Amino acid sequence: MRIFKIITIDGPASSGKTTISRLLAKKLNYLLLESGSLYRLVTYLLLSTSDLKNYLKDSQKLLKFLEDMFKEIEIKLLSEGTFIYWKERLIKEELRSKDVENVVSKVAALKEVRDFLTNFMRKLAENKSIVAEGRDMGSVVFPYADLKIFLTASDEVRARRRFKEKLNKESNCKYEEVLENIKFRDELDSKRAVAPLTVPDSAYVIDTSYLTPEQVLNEILKLIEK
Ligand code: C5P
Repeated sequence: MRIFKIITIDGPASSGKTTISRLLAKKLNYLLLESGSLYRLVTYLLLSTSDLKNYLKDSQKLLKFLEDMFKEIEIKLLSEGTFIYWKERLIKEELRSKDVENVVSKVAALKEVRDFLTNFMRKLAENKSIVAEGRDMGSVVFPYADLKIFLTASDEVRARRRFKEKLNKESNCKYEEVLENIKFRDELDSKRAVAPLTVPDSAYVIDTSYLTPEQVLNEILKLIEK
């Protein structure tokens, strides 16, 4: 089997990226870079300030904010996932809050944020074998990746997956709202000017709608063997 250094897994929300990239990273013993966590982190940090609107309007101020904040951030890449520490405290559940979820696609559309995180991720991945999961891993951040995968699934299948996941935490959550939120985020992610969600050149597209995670993993392992 050829030694891969960087494998990218892109795709829209709930297409199976998280599950598949975790299985793959574990199987290959690669480190797992979950780029969505970093966009969520920046959103969380911005929401924690009382000055959010000004940061969004002023690119110099935003950049300075990101540089200062990331001095206090430590990222640990393991094959189990991307672990983020702020002032030595693990930040995890906070990144999944409704507030973060509602704003993250807007923050992720900002050029300053994307450029900053793109550079940050490239440095993070230096001299490592990683599975990088996100929306622009193969198209922008690691265009030289050894293998590029793009996962898709129908809107309804993706909404049902997200709904099931959410029901564990919010018993009053509604399927229609989840479907709307997925469509809304897809629209923002696909139409943004900077690094829109797109199938990267030379990526293998896998529709996961009617496949189990193990079947998807096996398809990817076959591609690696090829
Ligand atoms: O994958 P996850 O749901 O954690 O990503 C949260 C959001 O971060 C996405 O909806 C998208 O707006 C943004 N994102 C991005 N580019 C990436 C990863 C995530 O724009 N590479």
